[in-house]
Amino acid sequence: MKAFVLDRYGKHRALQLATLPSPTLRDDEVLVQVHAAGLNQLDSKIRDGEFKRILPYRLPLILGHDVAGVVVEVGPRVRQFKAGDEVYARTDDFRIGTLAEFVPVKEASLALKPKGLGMEEAASIPLVGLTAWQALVGKAELKKGQKVFIQAGSGGVGTFAIQLARHLGATVATTTSTANLALVKSLGADLVIDYKMQDFEEVLRDYDVVLHSQDAKALDKSLRVLKRGGKLVSISGPPDPEFGEAIAASAFVKLAVRLLSFGVRRSARARGIHYSFLFMQANGDQLREITRLIEAGSIRPVLDRVFPFEATNEAMAYVEAGRAKGKVVVKLP
Ligand SMILES: NC(=O)c1ccc[n+]([C@@H]2O[C@H](COP(=O)([O-])OP(=O)(O)OC[C@H]3O[C@@H](n4cnc5c(N)ncnc54)[C@H](OP(=O)(O)O)[C@@H]3O)[C@@H](O)[C@H]2O)c1
Repeated sequence: MKAFVLDRYGKHRALQLATLPSPTLRDDEVLVQVHAAGLNQLDSKIRDGEFKRILPYRLPLILGHDVAGVVVEVGPRVRQFKAGDEVYARTDDFRIGTLAEFVPVKEASLALKPKGLGMEEAASIPLVGLTAWQALVGKAELKKGQKVFIQAGSGGVGTFAIQLARHLGATVATTTSTANLALVKSLGADLVIDYKMQDFEEVLRDYDVVLHSQDAKALDKSLRVLKRGGKLVSISGPPDPEFGEAIAASAFVKLAVRLLSFGVRRSARARGIHYSFLFMQANGDQLREITRLIEAGSIRPVLDRVFPFEATNEAMAYVEAGRAKGKVVVKLP
């Protein structure tokens, strides 16, 4: 099969188009013929070597976490899926590789594709949808009537998180630049701050939840817009000790993780705020919940660009530039 392979870590290093044997299927996996693969910042960060310690992949590696496609084979222990099913998933860590013609996916991480969505739209959902779900429903336990600030509302995570938060009954504030104001309003944001014109810290007060996805400065400011008892959920670091435990990190990495988040945890504690870091996980059950919301019309995918498979490196560069309005997807022939 054809696949885009990372042969060596390196910043902006091009992936190599290679012909490889079809992957071997484990008993609890489903082989999916890839119709579309969603790209994420995580793909470029892995390629750059930023995740070497957290996700120690062996190279060469086929990149790509999100897939939409058709089941072509099922392992002997698979119960819920059969050949011909249209499915989508965020593949598991250490079992990624959706930038290829076929990818094996654990049954527990897979869901049927939402009815009414095309393959490209479906491939745009899993990683960012599950991130928003695990941050807002899981970590933050966001409730009706609460106020949530979602940074970068026009990005992959932001476009989904705004819609999910509104569905949960929260009031949503977000940041974006001038060109994307209409987009985030159309997704349901109640209060939109143009970050090029205004500092969110000057506008927002007494928030219950912040979904943080930007830099350390924004993290600091986020502490000041939360009320006592509020929750700060970060998806862009620094990782917390719970994360070190969850990935069964070495003693060295656990210590590093503890030190990295020491400052923000201390500041949060002093203000009566709960800080947590999320590193999202594949999850088929949660993806089915997301499917229901999409089929009910509560959440829609926001696709910025679809690239042909051959242009995967261009698609990666587009994502990395950090200006995507919603999601970027690669379409297989
Ligand atoms: N920990 C996890 O499990 C996890 C999961 C998913 C994502 N992440 C991380 O979360 C971050 C966001 O991911 P993503 O997929 O949403 O990224 P993305 O789609 O690439 O984000 C692009 C968007 O960010 C906006 N943006 C850039 N700088 C901004 C700023 N200073 N203020 C407000 N908006 C800004 C851009 O809008 P403008 O063009 O208007 O500036 C653009 O629409 C990344 O660092 C990613 O690695 C972590």
